[in-house]
Amino acid sequence: MTKLSEMLKETTSFLKEKGIKEVEFGLILGSGLGELADEIEDAIAIPFSEIPHFAVSAVVGHAGKLVYGTLSGKKVLAMQGRFHYYEGHSMQTVTYPVRMMAAIGAHSIIVTNAAGGVNENFTPGNLMLITDHINFTFDNPLIGENEDEMGPRFPDMSHAYTPEYAEVARKVAKAQNVPLQEGVYMGFSGPTYETPAEIRMSRVMGADAVGMSTVSEVIVAAHSGLKVLGISCITNLAAGMQSSLNHAEVVETTERVKGQFKELVKAALAA
Ligand code: HPA
Repeated sequence: MTKLSEMLKETTSFLKEKGIKEVEFGLILGSGLGELADEIEDAIAIPFSEIPHFAVSAVVGHAGKLVYGTLSGKKVLAMQGRFHYYEGHSMQTVTYPVRMMAAIGAHSIIVTNAAGGVNENFTPGNLMLITDHINFTFDNPLIGENEDEMGPRFPDMSHAYTPEYAEVARKVAKAQNVPLQEGVYMGFSGPTYETPAEIRMSRVMGADAVGMSTVSEVIVAAHSGLKVLGISCITNLAAGMQSSLNHAEVVETTERVKGQFKELVKAALAA
């Protein structure tokens, strides 16, 4: 198998040739939240399908391109869409974009997702600052040989969601009068939504929200030494807390709150 570091060299030299040079923040934009990438100035957009070693993604609500440019005065590289484990990709493929962001020089990533609310105080449409996660996917992107130049064999996850960024998010949310919940994101593999019993379990275990992404990306971010800000859009109450669940509702809710979401992320970037 080709070494990860060699694959990354091919990917980053391709991106550099396209004009992607200085990167400060990587953005991973979840279901229905990709519109933020349309606000990037002097944008260079590249479909995932053209990027060496990238997979292709085809979920409704995921555009599937990389967008580079300036947002809130910062050099950003945004994933408009992401790869999911439930699509059949390996965890290494799912997290390759995070590797790429670190390799091209980003110091931080902002990860976003649509999530189901487990905490009974949440309502659909709330934004939630992710303070920690529970990896309940029964897999881990770091399983296998460790390439020591990429990061440590046993990464510390104590501060995977950077506390100083959490503080920034709280401050800008307050300044903008955007209610910001906070809590623990529990990552499942999907593609089924959880059962009501699984949701009761997740609540006992300490989850405030559940979803099908993010945890593997944040594991790789921690391994790569990237700082992380995580924001969930609570699109629905989790299974058993409302009559039924469907993807259309997830899309509708993100549509409704994407304005607030975009303002929050832009203000956090500017801070
Ligand atoms: N469960 C898992 N993933 C989700 C949900 C949910 O309820 N809502 C949006 N993504």
